[in-house]
Amino acid sequence: MSIHYPGLRDRTVIVTGGSRGIGAAIVEQFVLGGANVAIADVDAQGEKLAERWRVEGHDVRFYRCDVSSGESIRKLMEAVEQDYASVDVLVNNAGIFPRGDLQSTDEALWDRVIGINLKGVYLMCQAVSPLMIRQEKGVIINIGSMHSAKGEDNTMAYAVSKGGLITLTRNLAHALSKHRIRVNCVHPGWVASEGEVARWESMGSDMDKMQPAIQAIPLGRMQTGTDIAHTVVFLSSDFADQITGQMLAVDGGGSIRKPL
Ligand SMILES: NC(=O)c1ccc[n+]([C@@H]2O[C@H](COP(=O)([O-])OP(=O)(O)OC[C@H]3O[C@@H](n4cnc5c(N)ncnc54)[C@H](O)[C@@H]3O)[C@@H](O)[C@H]2O)c1
Repeated sequence: MSIHYPGLRDRTVIVTGGSRGIGAAIVEQFVLGGANVAIADVDAQGEKLAERWRVEGHDVRFYRCDVSSGESIRKLMEAVEQDYASVDVLVNNAGIFPRGDLQSTDEALWDRVIGINLKGVYLMCQAVSPLMIRQEKGVIINIGSMHSAKGEDNTMAYAVSKGGLITLTRNLAHALSKHRIRVNCVHPGWVASEGEVARWESMGSDMDKMQPAIQAIPLGRMQTGTDIAHTVVFLSSDFADQITGQMLAVDGGGSIRKPL
């Protein structure tokens, strides 16, 4: 199967956190759109994923990279530039979502969440944007969260990290517009990704126990990684050539529902 999104065929895309979950679904949609994809992730499962796509004739490569480390990103970019020469689209998807309120969030947890979810995005944008500036065109998509706009006690550092992404998105959208680099942010609603299911399991919960919350979603279901990926690929394509600095929630109406 292939999907036609103008401006993506044979382009090079970096997807951070592309080894599994929402990131793997984003990789799939770019591959189906004819792009070459570099997966940047700490989880070596991405190597197997890349191999599976290569067997089917697609150019997908895995690079081990910790986005919270400038040195790791420097090595990533050295390898990606050698393999592809340019980068057209950067999807900052890597993220962690451990729970913690003000008192239970210690300094180490705060640093880890902010380091991956926010500093990692700044570092990736800083590393990739010179390549985009060189070609006077590019797209950056940041994966945010509706928690950025919610006061939920036990997502303190996470919510702040995703709130920071909104500011970063707007700031960079303006700063990079003179180079025709568009920067947008996609807020997934609720996806049963590997990371989310592991979180449920750690609290002794599962899909059945989540049903009341799922049924409260106005459009009646959780989102899939593919729901999020379709929006990411649309925003990366020439269909979205005049869209920058925007936040788009893909949440089945979760953000406009009446409180439970
Ligand atoms: N699942 C949801 O309901 C949901 C909702 C809103 C936002 N999000 C956001 O979507 C993104 C993807 O989440 P997911 O649900 O697919 O989670 P996931 O845990 O299934 O996948 C996250 C991926 O990021 C990678 N990663 C983690 N730390 C990294 C690091 N330091 N460097 C490089 N890669 C790293 C992991 O190895 C993994 O492959 C995250 O930014 C998350 O905050 C998810």
